[in-house]
Amino acid sequence: MALLAVNNLSVRFGGLLAIESLSLEVREGEVLSLIGPNGAGKTTAFNAISGYLRPTGGEVFFKDKNIVGRNTNDIAALGLVRTFQKTSVFPNRSALENILIGLHLTSKQSPFAIMLALPSVARDERLLAAEAERILDFVNLQNKKDELAGALPYGEQRLLEVAIALAAKPKLLLLDEPVSGMNPSETASFMAKLAEIRALGITILLVEHDMKMVMGVSDRVVCLSQGRIIANGTPAEIQSNPEVIRAYLGERHKRVVS
Ligand SMILES: Nc1ncnc2c1ncn2[C@@H]1O[C@H](COP(=O)(O)OP(=O)(O)OP(=O)(O)O)[C@@H](O)[C@H]1O
Ligand SMILES: [Mg+2]
Repeated sequence: MALLAVNNLSVRFGGLLAIESLSLEVREGEVLSLIGPNGAGKTTAFNAISGYLRPTGGEVFFKDKNIVGRNTNDIAALGLVRTFQKTSVFPNRSALENILIGLHLTSKQSPFAIMLALPSVARDERLLAAEAERILDFVNLQNKKDELAGALPYGEQRLLEVAIALAAKPKLLLLDEPVSGMNPSETASFMAKLAEIRALGITILLVEHDMKMVMGVSDRVVCLSQGRIIANGTPAEIQSNPEVIRAYLGERHKRVVS
């Protein structure tokens, strides 16, 4: 069953058609990667799917509901949660506080009860703090919980962002270049973490330029170029697809060796 179905999605920025009639499905439980050259429209697709940008046309069904026009918080509350290509932690808050901010977004307490500091709020705060610690544990940042997020090494900040997204209890997690800026050993451990996230029952839509990672973690890969899908298949099919090599992989290979 499709958890996410994108139908004929288009995004226009003035004269530029950044996404043109994009249709794709993400099935429950899979890891689907969206690849393609810089400017292909991957982040724009994420923005339109997750409510950060109103598409010019098309539909986005999440759990069979058309979510176009809903605000980002409502979409996240439904279980569609995304991370950002550029690091987006709160730098002047501790790692633990960053997770708590994520948890509060889904907390059941009314702002009124919080203002009055009702006993139920204090109890909830303790539960939330314990949950925040569990999430930090999951991403192996438990020993960094009191450090300012902005002072963490870049790879750990990226991991913290994923942890913040996990705090919102996603059913579908959209990750925009999660390992960019990570070193090879951080990337390898992130790949293992992704398998654990998936084992929790979370479906993943991934945008990533690290082809070792994409080919290693994906069930299916969709390649975008200039806002349109040029190929869709298994990692092996995509790697040997002449159109993908011409538009993206060949060029990357040249860039790596030159
Ligand atoms: N807010 C905006 N206003 C105008 N043009 C935009 C805007 N956001 C993106 N674009 C343009 O839309 C196109 C798609 O950009 P997008 O960021 O989606 O690419 P991408 O596939 O994520 O690239 P990268 O791999 O470099 O992150 C680009 O030509 C970009 O310049
Ligand atoms: Mg992008």
